[in-house]
Amino acid sequence: MNTQSPHSRVVVITGASSGIGEATARALAGEGYRLALLARRVDRITALAEELGSDVIAIEADVTDRDSLVAAAERVQDELGGADVLINNAGVMLLGPFSSQQRAEFRQMIEVNLLGAITASEVFLDQLRDGGGDLVNISSVAGRTARPGNGVYAATKWGLNGWSESLRQELQPGVRVMVIEPGAVATELPTHITDPETKQGAARLYASVPVTAEDIAEVIAFAVGRPQHLTINEILLRPTGQA
Ligand SMILES: NC(=O)c1ccc[n+]([C@@H]2O[C@H](COP(=O)([O-])OP(=O)(O)OC[C@H]3O[C@@H](n4cnc5c(N)ncnc54)[C@H](OP(=O)(O)O)[C@@H]3O)[C@@H](O)[C@H]2O)c1
Repeated sequence: MNTQSPHSRVVVITGASSGIGEATARALAGEGYRLALLARRVDRITALAEELGSDVIAIEADVTDRDSLVAAAERVQDELGGADVLINNAGVMLLGPFSSQQRAEFRQMIEVNLLGAITASEVFLDQLRDGGGDLVNISSVAGRTARPGNGVYAATKWGLNGWSESLRQELQPGVRVMVIEPGAVATELPTHITDPETKQGAARLYASVPVTAEDIAEVIAFAVGRPQHLTINEILLRPTGQA
């Protein structure tokens, strides 16, 4: 285990209102971490925080809005004493053919998946530095390979990987940087796709995905729980059978 007891560590999770973020909140709360749950759907994170107990707070925050992240960081400092772990999990996967019709979605993916993670990290960095913090970036298999139709999504995850490797070297040994790269995980992520054909294909694929958000949450909890002298820098994981 980490030399700090989980009971004294504070974890901030972006995109904690569903899927991997929600499951990670449950897993870490179960291990005794204190948590700040961030997302735009405040009703969902409020209900989750109430369910998980008094050491969990919900903060409405949009990762594309730096002011809302600054306000969140102030609350984390005031109410929980500062963040020890930041999990950059918020993301959107708006797959579809490369065309001008998709340009707003290209921008949204870059602003949420890449710039959102960068902004949250610079906002919380002083807190993470104050006593040995962890920065966990939720990337994807799409950060290591690319396919037709996922170019900009893959670009955000490749970007996340490159940025994380730079930060790993720059912030060590005070802050551990970890990258988690799941393959397909059964969550609501593909339901936001707008291109009809792509959406249908993704729905078919995701209907039979055996890996759950809880599977990924366990892996994240394991990585964060390693002793401070050891960093699991990167974990690439796929459903058995995924190409
Ligand atoms: N599911 C997969 O197959 C898979 C595979 C590899 C990697 N991933 C990555 O895992 C992460 C979590 O995805 P998921 O599968 O758990 O999907 P999900 O259930 O759709 O969760 C995405 C989360 O991101 C949040 N979010 C989206 N836009 C946001 C914004 N502007 N500001 C703040 N939060 C925002 C959503 O919260 P609100 O809408 O409430 O704000 C939601 O909690 C993503 O980074 C995704 O790329 C997923």
